[in-house]
Amino acid sequence: MIQKLVAPSILSADFIRLGDDIAMLNRSQADYIHCDVMDGVFVPNISFGLPVISQVAAIAAKPLDVHLMIVNPDQYIEAFQAAGAAILTVHYEACTHLHRTIERIKAAGMKASVCLNPHTPVHLLEDIIEDLDMVLIMSVNPGFGGQRFIENAYQKVKKLKELILSKNADCLIEVDGGVNFETGKELYEAGADVLVSGSFIFQSEDPVATINHFKAL
Ligand code: DX5
Ligand code: ZN
Repeated sequence: MIQKLVAPSILSADFIRLGDDIAMLNRSQADYIHCDVMDGVFVPNISFGLPVISQVAAIAAKPLDVHLMIVNPDQYIEAFQAAGAAILTVHYEACTHLHRTIERIKAAGMKASVCLNPHTPVHLLEDIIEDLDMVLIMSVNPGFGGQRFIENAYQKVKKLKELILSKNADCLIEVDGGVNFETGKELYEAGADVLVSGSFIFQSEDPVATINHFKAL
């Protein structure tokens, strides 16, 4: 079944009026609020971290979907749980002992998710897929909003869907980067469950209508 969940990314929000943007997301049909944490080491950009996440969590009516683009994510698992993360995504490329990291995220009471950069193949998840609540496929190189969608993501979503079905795993597929109505429709059709969208939503004239329209694609 296609679920068509949508997770607006607040990387493209107005940080001066972040409270207003969270209130807008609360009013919309957004399923999650996607929070992009960047450390300037794993990716060539720095965004925001724990103090912002905990203040967002205090007013958010939707679960926080926290995407860690940082080295050593293990160091901060419990801190992100305490800040209010419901889903915690770590990068495959940043985790030497991925299984241990996933176990710790779940032990801390969050949903565990792994993200693949555009160059990282889906088959590397073969031996861990049954332990995951979600896999995040990057359809841009992480670090910035507003980049062009990498078409290769479609076939990665299809491969991942096959892997999930073959293992009978209970795992959502999320896609992040360059998502608009056109790429979004094709991604849902390819098997994606959750679409992250930042600049397309926040730069639109009516962000609530844009978010709600994703659910109707
Ligand atoms: C990029 C982030 C994305 C970003 C997406 O590294 O992970 O979540 O906000 O932005 P758009 O939708 O503008 O590509
Ligand atoms: Zn993201």
